[in-house]
Amino acid sequence: MDFCDQLDSPLFTHFIANYTHPTGPDLLGRTEPFFQWQESRRQTGLWPYSRSLDGAPAAECAVRSEMGVARQGLNFGSQDYLALSTHPAVVEAAHRAIRDFGLHSAGSGMFSGNTPPSLELEAALAEHLEMPYVALFATGWGACFGAIAGLVRPEDHVVLDALAHASLQQGAMAATQKVTRVPHLHARAMRRKLQEIRAQDTSNGILVVTEGLFSMDSDVPRLDELQSLCHEYGATLLVDVAHDLGALGPRGTGSLGAQEMLGKVDLVVGSFSKTFSSNGGFVATRSAAVRQFVRVMGGPHIFSNAILPVQAAAARESLRIIRSEEGDALRARALENIVALRGAFAERGVKCLGEPSNVVPVPLGDPKLARIASKLVFERGVFPNLVEYPAVRLRESRFRMQVMSSHTVEQMRHGATVVLDAIAEAGRLLSDCERTRAPLRGAMGASDSRGRADV
Ligand SMILES: Cc1ncc(COP(=O)(O)O)c(C=O)c1O
Repeated sequence: MDFCDQLDSPLFTHFIANYTHPTGPDLLGRTEPFFQWQESRRQTGLWPYSRSLDGAPAAECAVRSEMGVARQGLNFGSQDYLALSTHPAVVEAAHRAIRDFGLHSAGSGMFSGNTPPSLELEAALAEHLEMPYVALFATGWGACFGAIAGLVRPEDHVVLDALAHASLQQGAMAATQKVTRVPHLHARAMRRKLQEIRAQDTSNGILVVTEGLFSMDSDVPRLDELQSLCHEYGATLLVDVAHDLGALGPRGTGSLGAQEMLGKVDLVVGSFSKTFSSNGGFVATRSAAVRQFVRVMGGPHIFSNAILPVQAAAARESLRIIRSEEGDALRARALENIVALRGAFAERGVKCLGEPSNVVPVPLGDPKLARIASKLVFERGVFPNLVEYPAVRLRESRFRMQVMSSHTVEQMRHGATVVLDAIAEAGRLLSDCERTRAPLRGAMGASDSRGRADV
């Protein structure tokens, strides 16, 4: 089958969502249709996921596809926004932690999994966020899930921004069936929903969940407005700052700092897997009781081994740099790159989504075009992440280009040129197919038509 014929096949028309609910008694056997579909994408170079890096997540790196195909090129898929994972002071802190405390965290933070680096990290983060009580988790996912599952009971309500991260959505669904999603960043819809819930239920809790920076759209909620709404309706606000803390805002305080909301929202959760060049997560609160409750009642803290000393030490040293003048300089350099990248797209008529942040979403729209363009950019040594349905709406596929302080403005221009050329070429390939197939379709049906392109 040639390329044009394949456009109407599951290779291009199916999404992960087509396979999420297999049925039948054979739990293992029924995974096969998904695998076959995925495999057809892998074999044709149209599965841009599960790649590996052959070195550190530097601006230029060697990337290997899941099929083992290696390419050298420009890395736009790293969340190490200030490039701290290779900063000599962070590397030295990590080495010191391994030397002094070993590699293991010994056990859950409920038992004896805490270490001097993890205790120091808790205290430093509390100061940074102006929230005196911090509970650490082994991952950001666990912190998000655990904060919600720890606090919310089946009688309570959770109201999420529709685009809140999967860890927040799954935490909500594990805690209660009373979960609603309001349209993204829609303050009036949020007010209506809170009004509606409170009109019927004055005796249970409502948790409102949002993010400091939405990482697929690069947009930001008005946190003061949301917090006031929560006060008005007796609700509690939780803000996930995974992507903005450290990377944005004065002294890396993220959207909370930029909006003068440090220490003023009810709950803050986040991750060390982005700007903090490590792994791990946290819940921050103004209440000693809430911290203890989330630790004990939020499953991932009590039932997972604690963050490793080396992870805590790397995050702690990253935080020191984030808060320093050096951190300001790194953020300024990243911003220069971000502005250059968005500008390079704008010059050729493409408006990147959202606001300037380390996440630059480039709209692709049509999912078929998106898959072809993604294959082309990989071949040409530019590596953004492809985001497809159901992570975004069906016709809103996009590249997520993640920008680091260690990139250069020249790399931004080159990256934008390669991406734009790939999009244009993918568009031409598709319209060539349309042209060849249109007359044939009427006469004999699409499956008999011949196409020209070979992707
Ligand atoms: C908004 C958001 N919250 C939470 C997480 C989970 O963080 P971690 O990678 O530390 O598990 C992520 C990471 O993908 C995220 O993007």
